Amino acid sequence: MAKLRAAITGVNGYVPDYILTNAELETIVDTNDEWIRSRTGIEQRHILKGEGKATSDMCVEAVKGLLEKTGTSPDEIDLVICATVTADMPFPDTANITSDKVGIKNAFCFDINAACSGFLYALTTGAKFVESGSHKKVIVIGADMMSSIIDYTDRTTCVIFGDGGGAVLLEPTEEEVGVMDSVLKSDGNGRHFLHQKAGGSLHPATMETVTAREHFVFQNGRPVFKAAVKGMTDTVKTVMSRNNLSNDDISWMVPHQANMRIIDSVTRMSDFPLEKTMVNIQKYGNTTAGTLPLCLWDYESQLKKGDNLILTAFGGGFTWGAVWLKWAY
Ligand code: UT7
Repeated sequence: MAKLRAAITGVNGYVPDYILTNAELETIVDTNDEWIRSRTGIEQRHILKGEGKATSDMCVEAVKGLLEKTGTSPDEIDLVICATVTADMPFPDTANITSDKVGIKNAFCFDINAACSGFLYALTTGAKFVESGSHKKVIVIGADMMSSIIDYTDRTTCVIFGDGGGAVLLEPTEEEVGVMDSVLKSDGNGRHFLHQKAGGSLHPATMETVTAREHFVFQNGRPVFKAAVKGMTDTVKTVMSRNNLSNDDISWMVPHQANMRIIDSVTRMSDFPLEKTMVNIQKYGNTTAGTLPLCLWDYESQLKKGDNLILTAFGGGFTWGAVWLKWAY
């Protein structure tokens, strides 16, 4: 029997309506449009507003549209994986809550917490279930409501992050398309540079943790920047060289959208043309697990069956990696 591969057979994205511009941020913290654009490439980000709204509400929008687009009934879905660091609540998982809201009743569901690399981890995990033959219609979501863990008095983080996400459908195929290879890495020592200190078992929520603003994202940007450039470049080179792929073979590089200067450095160090690199950071900022599916969604109309894509990301953990994907439609 031919080897089963996991093909992406549809993608859909969602960003909330409210747009937080650099101009509005200038009224909130000591920053300016020129600094944000030149240091990050970000012009605006979308923010989920409204009482009772959470990450699962964005997942629901992405998944409903995905089912519609692919002509799939909720009953057919047998696995849902959601990559997020902004789960609706510590438990149950956002994948479960999303499935309940969408009417997916025959699936098992779980979340993956790998920060900005979450979508790569979830895609690779979902692909394994498809490749094994055990699961036939798998939804992989990457979504974050970063505004729920961002300190809007901290100019070093609040200008970067936004809310949004997307979802893909994975189905088995015997054709040479789909998730072809993955290189995934972790280094727990990176936790010192990028984390949310309180709210877990180490520092449960208390009046003191709230007053000390420890339930927000902390980032020491410069070491993260350096590690991101190295980690993404290394894994892109590894996944390409072990599959004998040259830059000419690659139709698109799909990098995590954390900072335009990181994207520039990774493409430059890989000798890869920026024209063939997906970039939408100017519109959405860094949506953590949402960036890669939002790129695929934005560029979907430009993709052709058989196109080789290299996805790469770096984030809290540290976590990082690269995935070689052959577009399936
Ligand atoms: O997605 C997860 C992984 N995360 C990343 O990949 C993010 C990696 N890091 C970065 O993207 C960048 O380090 C940042 C965008 C976070 C910061 O850019 P930077 O060029 O590394 O700036 P910096 O932290 O070295 O700060 C340079 C200056 C400082 O002023 P002084 O000390 O030189 O006077 C900051 O206080 O820029 C100042 N600054 C700002 N000024 C205006 C920092 N944030 C702002 C701001 N507006 N929002």
